[in-house]
Amino acid sequence: MSAQPSVAGDPPAGDASVGSGQARPPRHAAGQRKRHVVAKADEFGVGARRILKVDGREIGVFRTEAGLFALRNSCPHQGAPLCLGPVTGTTLASAPGEYVWGMEGQVLRCPWHGWEFDLRTGVGLYDPYRHERVATYEVKNEDGEVVLFA
Ligand code: FES
Repeated sequence: MSAQPSVAGDPPAGDASVGSGQARPPRHAAGQRKRHVVAKADEFGVGARRILKVDGREIGVFRTEAGLFALRNSCPHQGAPLCLGPVTGTTLASAPGEYVWGMEGQVLRCPWHGWEFDLRTGVGLYDPYRHERVATYEVKNEDGEVVLFA
């Protein structure tokens, strides 16, 4: 039996492939969720973030140099407001003695204890074998607006 990821605040995903680091579609496809306008696209440039309250959930929306992302604002470790943490990169798997920096703009670091999450997938980068992730949501540019589906 394969382990399913645990997602802070949401039930386990049936289609998740965890720990691969590969981008995948957000768990919440646009057709299943309500449309929420986050901002005008031209007012939400690289470096922008906004935290919205949607049906009792807080969801952080980010535009980084790597694109638009949306995650649940709750860290699976001890419940910190994850989306207040810095957007950054991380050290990549590499040979002993080598330190290779990558994933710039694709990593969200928890403000409380520094656990890192892949903004594309919500997967925790600290230990992929723990199969932990935060919920991700679809967000895109649509008719000059940044739109969240949640
Ligand atoms: S609460 Fe996020 S790393 Fe501890």
